Amino acid sequence: MKTEDVKQAAEILRKSKRIAVLTGAGISSESGVPTFRGRDGLWRQFRAEDLATPEAFSRDPKLVWEWYDWRRGLIGNVEPNPGHRILAKWETLFPEFVLITQNIDGLHAKAGSKNILELHGNIWKLRCTKEETIMENHVSPLGDIPPRCPSCGETLRPHVVWFGESLDPDILHRAFAFSSLCEVMLVIGTSASVQPAASLPSYASDAGAKIIEVNPDPTPLTSLANISLQGKAGEILPLIDQFMSL
Ligand code: OAD
Repeated sequence: MKTEDVKQAAEILRKSKRIAVLTGAGISSESGVPTFRGRDGLWRQFRAEDLATPEAFSRDPKLVWEWYDWRRGLIGNVEPNPGHRILAKWETLFPEFVLITQNIDGLHAKAGSKNILELHGNIWKLRCTKEETIMENHVSPLGDIPPRCPSCGETLRPHVVWFGESLDPDILHRAFAFSSLCEVMLVIGTSASVQPAASLPSYASDAGAKIIEVNPDPTPLTSLANISLQGKAGEILPLIDQFMSL
């Protein structure tokens, strides 16, 4: 990563009023949450794609819940890192700032971000499979697995989007709408391999936004990015912030 590129990113941001950010699992990795496609991405012998599906849940709700219970235990014990915190700070600096995240860990909110669109749901929310009611639940470990709805006794599921399921249409609409309006989109810590989230940067770029990517590894979006900053979010975002205030 070149310092000149970081300075240029800071300069672009400083001149802009409408900022969109798209984050993925990479922004939480420095907090100790494993990414999905990284080296630590497997749980037992399973990949996320094997467990995060409605079919896996109807086949073996206990197994899927054990995975989520493990992730909840892990996430519940970690803190936001400087990457999360800088984004929370920037929300207070820019007139319009929307944080679109694929993460379900709630760490952006814990860092203080407010204007968040959680595309894939939230691991601290449960949903009744019968009544569709959504409830917050921070109990970890859960105890009874699978957990049951306190009102009807049916199985609860995590209020997250699984492979093969549709995203909340309102959240998705707002994410695309702001992507078409923003002047800059920061794309941080995502392998850009899951749709429709992976399309947001090209949508923003087609509408005229500058794309700044922060990721230690190249992704399918790297060639689209105006600036590609190769490195860790927890190191690069504070650097950009420093140059912005100079
Ligand atoms: P992935 O695990 O696919 O990708 C994580 C990305 O973060 C990779 O490109 C890494 O290079 C990058 N990365 C790792 N450490 C980083 C750091 N310190 N700073 C910045 N970047 C870093 O995770 P996602 O792209 O979020 O969906 O995956 C997308 C979706 O697939 C998830 O939301 C989830 C998953 O299966 C569902 O569960 C529906």
